[in-house]
Amino acid sequence: MPDFQAFMRDSQARIERALDDYLPTSATQPTRLHEAMRYSIMDGGKRVRPMLVYATGLAVDAPNHLLDAPACAIEMIHVYSLIHDDLPAMDNDDLRRGRPTCHKAYDDAMAILAGDALQPLALDIIANEEQLSYSSRLKIIQALTAASGSLGMAGGQAIDLEAETRTLTLQQLEEMHARKTGALIRAAIQMGALCGEDVSAAELAGLEIYAKCIGLAFQIQDDILDEIGDTTKLGKPQGSDRENGKSTFVSLCGMEASKRRKKELLEQAISALDTLRYDTSQLVELGRYIVRRDC
Ligand code: IPE
Ligand code: IPE
Ligand code: MG
Ligand code: MG
Ligand code: MG
Repeated sequence: MPDFQAFMRDSQARIERALDDYLPTSATQPTRLHEAMRYSIMDGGKRVRPMLVYATGLAVDAPNHLLDAPACAIEMIHVYSLIHDDLPAMDNDDLRRGRPTCHKAYDDAMAILAGDALQPLALDIIANEEQLSYSSRLKIIQALTAASGSLGMAGGQAIDLEAETRTLTLQQLEEMHARKTGALIRAAIQMGALCGEDVSAAELAGLEIYAKCIGLAFQIQDDILDEIGDTTKLGKPQGSDRENGKSTFVSLCGMEASKRRKKELLEQAISALDTLRYDTSQLVELGRYIVRRDC
């Protein structure tokens, strides 16, 4: 079994190749749109969601070759959400993944369209993945659409914007985080699990607890890094939340309580994996990485 550094390196190289294959080339008409899509998705980001697909695949003994399509699909939805999140009408940020945001490198209209085009592409690659059964394709698409829509990520983003002018309760904040970030993280894990053949109800329940805890811990760390991270390392502007008057874990609970909460969530996530029969070591390490990362 490769160590975690090797797993990360291999997963990142693998997702890069697969994304390159699935995306229309930048010479394809309309070229500016395809360039903008490639600009935002290629060569960047930590690829946490694809890594969650691959690590879950290992934990349910899924055939390895089935995992690239769901890994690319979830990254496409994630990148669309980032492109739109950075627009002037939303967080109005100029830097993403160490480069000018899509609307800065192109323009607002092209950024909206690049995001719009990544969504159906994500669904399309699952719908057309002939190595997956029709029933698996449908279930994976259901996981993806439920996580992306108004009851998932898009809904969470709406709550995030409304919360700029009011203070949320802790319960409301956790609900917002569960949707805006947690939903896609949970979908990544569900999609990996759907590639396994004989995953038991107990295993799914363990993965579900892991997903919910890691999803919240991920956004707590994102909120912490917005407060104390380094813009160069982050590749996005530190202090953006404070500037926009966002409701974050840190603004509501303070730094120490936020750190305590993410540690508790990590422990809960790791112990939930005891129900699984196969190799959970990469999920464990990925959980640790998610709460300790500095970018
Ligand atoms: C940033 O996600 C947006 C949130 C959901 C908090 P990531 O921290 O995974 O961003 P990339 O993909 O590595 O750029
Ligand atoms: C964004 O949350 C979540 C989505 C894009 C769905 P943030 O606004 O906190 O993400 P960053 O900090 O800009 O990456
Ligand atoms: Mg935002
Ligand atoms: Mg943002
Ligand atoms: Mg943030």
